[in-house]
Amino acid sequence: MTGENTTIVLIGATGDLAQRSLVPALFHLRCTKCLGRGVRIVGFARRPYSDDEFRDFMWQGTREVGELATRREEWDSFAQNLFYVSGNLDKPGDFTRLGQRLEELEAGPANRLFYLSIPPQLYETAVENLGGSGLARENTGWRRLVIEKPFGRDLTSARALDRVMQKFFDDRQVIHRFVATLQLRQRLPDIAMPN
Ligand SMILES: NC(=O)c1ccc[n+]([C@@H]2O[C@H](COP(=O)([O-])OP(=O)(O)OC[C@H]3O[C@@H](n4cnc5c(N)ncnc54)[C@H](OP(=O)(O)O)[C@@H]3O)[C@@H](O)[C@H]2O)c1
Repeated sequence: MTGENTTIVLIGATGDLAQRSLVPALFHLRCTKCLGRGVRIVGFARRPYSDDEFRDFMWQGTREVGELATRREEWDSFAQNLFYVSGNLDKPGDFTRLGQRLEELEAGPANRLFYLSIPPQLYETAVENLGGSGLARENTGWRRLVIEKPFGRDLTSARALDRVMQKFFDDRQVIHRFVATLQLRQRLPDIAMPN
């Protein structure tokens, strides 16, 4: 992602994956100049954090990864683009509030990538409320949805989840994180990657 106005929305931002993998990886991309300055990150979860508390929480996870602890000055600049909205994904009104905050921060047309970093049993509710609140509409830029593994518990539940996703997102908008990792692994066989 380059300098375009883009928001990465981490649904489940106070969880282990977000704190110990996703945000440290994004920060590493910024440090290596692979993530443009026009990219902001907005966390969404129930915990009642302010933006600053969320930034501190993410620094606690990031500084434990490799040599990122030595990059405090770069972190302080990166963290200015970290924001947090407290909400419950069971509540459609909380997604409306999320949408309002996104519009305020973006201040114009912007792309949005929604990353579902939540327990698998919540995927359907999250997609239903995300789509129902209009956040999947590509009215001001592209929209993408990243979904973690596992995709359903069995064929029946996977099909049910797929049906909900198809209501709001085209196939081209959906990125299955596990499949994407496998494809990357095939293209870059020498790189060790987590599962
Ligand atoms: N952890 C890993 O290394 C890892 C690796 C591979 C795949 N995954 C997959 O990644 C996903 C996330 O895993 P995780 O380990 O990060 O899980 P986790 O630590 O349990 O985090 C779950 C997140 O969901 C939020 N959440 C739960 N219920 C919510 C609700 N009703 N409304 C809003 N937010 C809610 C929690 O925040 P609040 O309690 O503050 O709301 C928290 O931020 C899972 O699908 C898992 O299978 C994880």
